[in-house]
Amino acid sequence: MNKHTEIIKKRYDRISALFDVMDHMIRPSWRDDLLGNVQGTILEVGVGTGANLPYYPSNVHVTGIDFSTKMLAKAYAKMDKVKAEVVLREMDAQQMDFPDNTFDVVVSTCVFCSVPDPVKGFQEVRRVVKPEGKIVMLEHMQSDNIVAGKILDMINPLTVRIVGANVNRKTIENIEKAGLKIEQQDYLMTSIMRKLIISTHK
Ligand SMILES: C[S@@+](CC[C@H](N)C(=O)[O-])C[C@H]1O[C@@H](n2cnc3c(N)ncnc32)[C@H](O)[C@@H]1O
Repeated sequence: MNKHTEIIKKRYDRISALFDVMDHMIRPSWRDDLLGNVQGTILEVGVGTGANLPYYPSNVHVTGIDFSTKMLAKAYAKMDKVKAEVVLREMDAQQMDFPDNTFDVVVSTCVFCSVPDPVKGFQEVRRVVKPEGKIVMLEHMQSDNIVAGKILDMINPLTVRIVGANVNRKTIENIEKAGLKIEQQDYLMTSIMRKLIISTHK
């Protein structure tokens, strides 16, 4: 793990105790809409404190990964609320231990704002998802609005320092740079928060 990745991992370890109290960016109905009908073998990247876990249907197998030991510890504590079969593993999304073409669906919610090298992370997602599989995401990113975008640029150094997240990531560009294809893009909270359905384009 390189030094920058170690720093971001430590920031998530540091905020893990307060994360569930602090973070209300994603509405429960958005999680339900994204995850309620997924099927097959699922990889959740950046599972964090396990906020998504109760939303998976009972007939799926979910592997949740995160590089923060302390965020994962919070996720373990939520396992009694979970219907699906879930396995949690400590792992860096930029260098995953899984063979190529392993999962039917890859999920991320508010993760690629903080993955230190997001293109590398998306390339790994592309590698581990099956060719006919899909990738579903709720991600916040740089605004399309010029004024809002400038404000996000200004506050970004602060959000990275405090919570490890970039608020001005060019996530759509990063997805495309990794060779993935966006099939559907819905704006949920202006252009900052988006639901994305992505195909592997393999
Ligand atoms: C803002 S939290 C979101 C957690 C969860 N997905 C949710 O919706 O509440 C971002 C999570 O991504 C994880 N993360 C960031 N970069 C990562 C990486 N390279 N590998 C694994 N996990 C990563 C962080 O540790 C953190 O738990």
